[in-house]
Amino acid sequence: MSLITSDQKTADAATDFMPINGTDYIELYVSNAKQAAYFYKSAMGFQSLAYSGLETGNRETESYVVVQDKIRIVLTSPLRSGSDIGRHIDKHGDGVKVNALWVDDATYAYDEAMKRGAKSYMKPREESDADGKVVRSGIHTYGEVVHIFVERKDYNGVFLPGFTKWDSYFKPEPVGLKFVDHMVGNVELGNMNKWVNFYQEVLGFKQIMSFDDNDISTEFTALMSKVMSNNNGRIKFPINEPAPGLKKSQVDEYLEFYEGEGVQHVAVATDNIIDTVTKLKERGIEFLSIPSTYYDVLEERVGKIDEDIQPLKDLGILVDRDEEGYLLQIFTKTIQARPTMFFEIIQRKGATSFGKGNFKALFEAIEREQELRGTL
Ligand code: FE2
Repeated sequence: MSLITSDQKTADAATDFMPINGTDYIELYVSNAKQAAYFYKSAMGFQSLAYSGLETGNRETESYVVVQDKIRIVLTSPLRSGSDIGRHIDKHGDGVKVNALWVDDATYAYDEAMKRGAKSYMKPREESDADGKVVRSGIHTYGEVVHIFVERKDYNGVFLPGFTKWDSYFKPEPVGLKFVDHMVGNVELGNMNKWVNFYQEVLGFKQIMSFDDNDISTEFTALMSKVMSNNNGRIKFPINEPAPGLKKSQVDEYLEFYEGEGVQHVAVATDNIIDTVTKLKERGIEFLSIPSTYYDVLEERVGKIDEDIQPLKDLGILVDRDEEGYLLQIFTKTIQARPTMFFEIIQRKGATSFGKGNFKALFEAIEREQELRGTL
């Protein structure tokens, strides 16, 4: 495992052909956007932000946008049969379609990506309303996932043109989720390096870490992973592929039930994971459980940390340390009918890595779930 240094980062900033300010939004195609929005609000502490549908003149789809601090999630369902969104949902179940990247110039970003071999999803398109204009463009990545570049410097509206403010009297208390820390893709065996190269060549990302089956394996399953980051580190995309094991790996299970490559998990950051996870559990979010023996050797493994061990143990929060600090993390169970996507809650205290020291305990927890599903 290796990390990039800050000297390298400064040097790279001058030559960065694809500056990205951060994640703009994540859009999921779901079978019932209205009910999904209620889940994100009531269980995960998001607030109503924007709406598009019949009432706004949109005859094809209905979208609810929810927000928590810097995280915007768009939930979209088709209003009629025979649509491409409906086909997407039939094939994949609920899942991430769009990872939108906030840029200063969406035409430039598109042109640079296309010049470097991207496959076009959407040519630069100007959309405007009374609140100003937005330019969006898009390219394909693994599976049916796309990146949409969003240029919103001339826009003051609530989300995007075409959306109206979604006022709701239902305002559940936020749980302290701050921003998208990373988003992980699962790809087919043999495709990891193809997508690593794509992020390097098309978007100017760097590989900041890699894990092989020696790092990530249990008695039964294994996977390989490489972590791609943009220049300023705000966008991090680990890419997993299955490695041969004695039984079916979690990546294989995902690929089978998602019927293809796609987003495995979205990691969202908090400043206080004990408080956040306590609130999420009170609202019914289920997490992978870790054997209490994990905590017997925790301090030995990660050294002194600010938090008391007992609440971490009560909640099942994992801890790992790297050269730069430590991190706390926990993983939800999968959040839709199919055993595909889930969320990670992460609090970084200096650490820039992804919890390699927890992989074994985590994968054993996932295998217990797979065992129950008969998919191991
Ligand atoms: Fe993660």
